[in-house]
Amino acid sequence: MKQLPNSEIEQIYKKAISAGLIEKSEKSAIFYVKEMLQDRLSILHRCFPADVLHAVAIKAQSHPEVLKSIVDFGFGLEAASLEEVKMAVAAGCPAHKIVFDSPVKTREEIQYCHEHVQGIYLNVNSLQELDRIPTNFSGNLGIRINPLVQTDAPEFFDVVRKNSKFGVSILKENEIIAAALQCPAVTGLHMHIGSGIRDFSGNVEAVKMIVNLAEKINLKRAKNVINSRIDWIDIGGGIHFESETGDFSVAEFVDKLKSETNLFNNFEVITEYGAFVHKQNSFAVSRIEYVLESELKDIPHSAFIHFGADLFLRKVYSSLPINYPYFVFGKTAEPNFAKYNIAGPLCFAGDYLYYDLELPKLEEGDLFVMKDIGANTLSMWSRHCSREEPKFVLI
Ligand SMILES: Cc1ncc(COP(=O)(O)O)c(C=O)c1O
Repeated sequence: MKQLPNSEIEQIYKKAISAGLIEKSEKSAIFYVKEMLQDRLSILHRCFPADVLHAVAIKAQSHPEVLKSIVDFGFGLEAASLEEVKMAVAAGCPAHKIVFDSPVKTREEIQYCHEHVQGIYLNVNSLQELDRIPTNFSGNLGIRINPLVQTDAPEFFDVVRKNSKFGVSILKENEIIAAALQCPAVTGLHMHIGSGIRDFSGNVEAVKMIVNLAEKINLKRAKNVINSRIDWIDIGGGIHFESETGDFSVAEFVDKLKSETNLFNNFEVITEYGAFVHKQNSFAVSRIEYVLESELKDIPHSAFIHFGADLFLRKVYSSLPINYPYFVFGKTAEPNFAKYNIAGPLCFAGDYLYYDLELPKLEEGDLFVMKDIGANTLSMWSRHCSREEPKFVLI
């Protein structure tokens, strides 16, 4: 998989200045590299069977230009709210490549999709939600299932625990089958078991359960002479694949699904990867505005930059072990090093991105770069302290 080495990042930045895409005086900027996006999407396309619909999760990266690029490359979009459905439409995504998954859709939102986004994939989060679906629904209707499998997703992102607010528990199999018999408009099943997953054995296990459930529904429907079947399965996202081939790779996952399930033989398949697609395509650059020298030997100096908890909410506000790689632009040959805390610009004590970094001696105007920041950063932008977003540069 393509990576963005520091030297390439420096080149990109310099070119952006000389092309007039950003001013040298810009406080901070986020760069998103389209070629990297294309690389990640083509990995999905190469490893999965060609007819799989990859609907990229908008919540991970919602910049309109990035959404448009995804659509231009022929991929779909997964929306977590009606607002995201509208963003997908605005990006030019055809309705039959949009998946709508919010756990709290209102009657009006469902009606809106029925009237204006005909052909959309809509997954209900509960059996109760089926009552809100208009008759002759114009989209493709699925039920989200909670397969209750074990996953290595951090607890914060594990959505398949018994008390999860997402999906209908697989323990309610009989009720799900009864609902599917009563509502022949249901033609799909959906699962998403969590994010930050490395070991995808839980996903494979979950797919087996969902395929099994789909086959049971299809058998019962045939017996009851109901002329519709479950013909698509949405296997969600959440796996942060390490590579295209080899251990914990996309190819290994697809091979496992092929050898252990009937997924690709009997069903149309949808995926919803977000972080895997975006994470490494983007970097953020901030000017160092001030360096406050520490007078105490054991306390690092403070270097203030122009983004903090507003851009990196998960890093600052949660206990998740998020460590974006960083470097200081153009300072590889600097002989003097010192210890720094990297302070964000917001007015509260906890707004620090890094503590105790050993860095080349910093001064006002140096550029601090954070890498691999393409997912769940700008799409989570916080208005706290009302600072403007960094300039966004798609290249
Ligand atoms: C339903 C659903 N699909 C897909 C995703 C994307 O997950 P990831 O970005 O980890 O691939 C999420 C993330 O929360 C989700 O809730």
